[in-house]
Amino acid sequence: DGAKPLAGKKAVVTSGPTHEPIDPVRYIANRSSGRQGHAIAAALAALGADVTLVSGPVTISDPVGLNVIHVERADEMRDAVLAALPADIAVMVAAVADWRVASASDQKIKKHPGESIPTLALTENPDILKTVGHHTQRPKLVIGFAAETQDVESNARAKLERKGADFIVANDVSPATGIMGGTRNRVKIISHAGVEQWPDLDKDEVAVRLAALISAQFTQG
Ligand code: C5P
Repeated sequence: DGAKPLAGKKAVVTSGPTHEPIDPVRYIANRSSGRQGHAIAAALAALGADVTLVSGPVTISDPVGLNVIHVERADEMRDAVLAALPADIAVMVAAVADWRVASASDQKIKKHPGESIPTLALTENPDILKTVGHHTQRPKLVIGFAAETQDVESNARAKLERKGADFIVANDVSPATGIMGGTRNRVKIISHAGVEQWPDLDKDEVAVRLAALISAQFTQG
């Protein structure tokens, strides 16, 4: 079916930030809006894929016509992604927090005059992309993102290897670019075959192009 080249294919997409609790009222977060990940999930669904979108806390609405799972923390996101396997395609777009608070308090941490200021001990979060990229049920196509503020291409290339991805979509998220939280994106596609620079595009257009690139991987065998 030309219009639905991904019919019969299952995709899992992560999107948005994660919120890592400090206590019941406070959390660590980042500036991801979920726009790029949600747009990719929608673009894959438009090509006929059966899409599970695992979204961290975002203010944008759920794309229609696909299965959306809402999570808060990285460990919840990992569990939801693994529950969606087996899949043919994994696109890990979420800005997963690298660290979480080692022992989040189950009561609000109180400020007591004259007492010392609390410090937050952090521990590493699971790397969802790396887990999927090396999984026994690894999807045929595993795609990650690399949001960098320096050495974009070399960092992305290292990520391709380390995380077991087929493609890394790399972007410069330096504040001056306005990409993080914005509506436009300028990405490089890094694969074992080389690097392709895409022009400055709307995030929806990046999504449509990426969905086409994904679909081409299946038709080319
Ligand atoms: O290592 P870094 O965070 O730069 O890698 C970014 C890529 O890895 C993105 O595709 C992101 O969704 C994914 N990632 C992940 N789990 C993490 C950290 C990053 O899936 N804990």
